[in-house]
Amino acid sequence: MSIRARQVLLFMLCCAFVAQTWLVYADSEGDDYLLSSVALEGQAVWRKNNCQSCHQLYGFGGFLGPDLTNSIDNLSPERLSAILTEGLGQMPAFELDPDDQHRIGVFLRELDQTGISQPKLGDVVTPTELLSQVLALEEGSAPGLLRGAELVQSQGCIGCHLPNEQSLHRAMDLTAMTTTLSRERVQTVLLDGIEGTAMPRLSMSAEDSQAVWDCLVWMNEHGEELRARFRGMATSEDFDLLQLPWFEYR
Ligand code: HEC
Ligand code: HEC
Repeated sequence: MSIRARQVLLFMLCCAFVAQTWLVYADSEGDDYLLSSVALEGQAVWRKNNCQSCHQLYGFGGFLGPDLTNSIDNLSPERLSAILTEGLGQMPAFELDPDDQHRIGVFLRELDQTGISQPKLGDVVTPTELLSQVLALEEGSAPGLLRGAELVQSQGCIGCHLPNEQSLHRAMDLTAMTTTLSRERVQTVLLDGIEGTAMPRLSMSAEDSQAVWDCLVWMNEHGEELRARFRGMATSEDFDLLQLPWFEYR
C-alpha cells in the first residue's frame, strides 16, 4: 500500500471514529423526561432495596421477577403495598414504611409515562396467518390445490421457507421453488427430507406431495403479492426508534 493510500485510510478511520462518537453521545431529539421529586425519592428507595436485582426497567435488570416499567396500571396502591409488605412467591417482604411504599408507587407511575418497555411492531401477522390470508383469496380453487394449501400450512413450510430470500438455515423461498426445482426433486425431498439439515423427513405420499407441488406452483404465480405482503408486515409505520427513551432518566 502506498503512503498516500495509507494516509487516506487513516483519515477515513478518523472520520468514522468522530462520526460514531458523535452518534453515540449526541442526545436524540426525543423527549426529556423529568421525574418529580417524589418519584426521585421513590427511585432512591428502589435503588436502596436493590429491586433492580430481580426486576427490569426497560429490559435492564435481573430476571427473577417481571419487568416493571409498565406494570403500574395493574397494581392498585393496596396491592402494591401488600406485595411489598408480605412478599409474593419468590419475592421477599420488605420493611418499607407507608411513605416509601407510596414513593415507589409514584416512581413506577411516572416511569410508566416515559415510554413502552417492549415496543410492539404494530399488528404483527405471523407468516402462517399471512399464507392463509393469501390462500383464502382464491375462492373455488381445485380440490387438489386446497389439499396442498392445507398441507403447506399444517407442515409449517412457510415458517422455515420465508418469502424473503433470507430464511432460517438458508431454506429456499417457498414462493420461488417451482422456478428452480423439478417436481421430482420436490417430491423426493418431501418423502425423505434432507439429512443433516433442518428439512424434516415428512414421508409424504405421492398424492399429497403432488398436491403440495400444485400449491407451490400457485404460490409461485402469486409470488410477487406474497413477498410484498411479507415485506409489509416486517416493517411498521407505528414504530419509531427515537421514541424509545434512554434507559436512564433524570
Ligand atoms: C429476590 C428478588 C426480588 C426482589 C429483590 C424484588 N422482587 Fe418484586 N418480584 C419478584 C418476583 C419473583 C415477583 C413475581 C412473583 C409472582 O408473581 O409469583 C415479583 C413481583 C413484584 C411485583 C408484582 C408485579 C406484577 O405485576 O404482578 C411488584 C410490584 C414488585 N415485585 C415490586 C418490587 C419492588 C418495588 C421491589 C424493591 C423494593 C422488589 N419487587 C424487589 C422478585 C423480587
Ligand atoms: C423446520 C424447517 C423446515 C420445514 C418445516 C420445511 N423445510 Fe424445506 N427445507 C428446510 C431447509 C433448512 C432446507 C435446506 C436444506 C439444505 O441445506 O439443503 C430445506 C429444503 C427444502 C427443499 C429442497 C430445496 C433444494 O434446493 O433442493 C424443498 C423442495 C423443501 N425444503 C420443501 C419444503 C416444503 C414443501 C415444506 C412443507 C411441506 C418444507 N420444506 C418444510 C427447512 C424446512
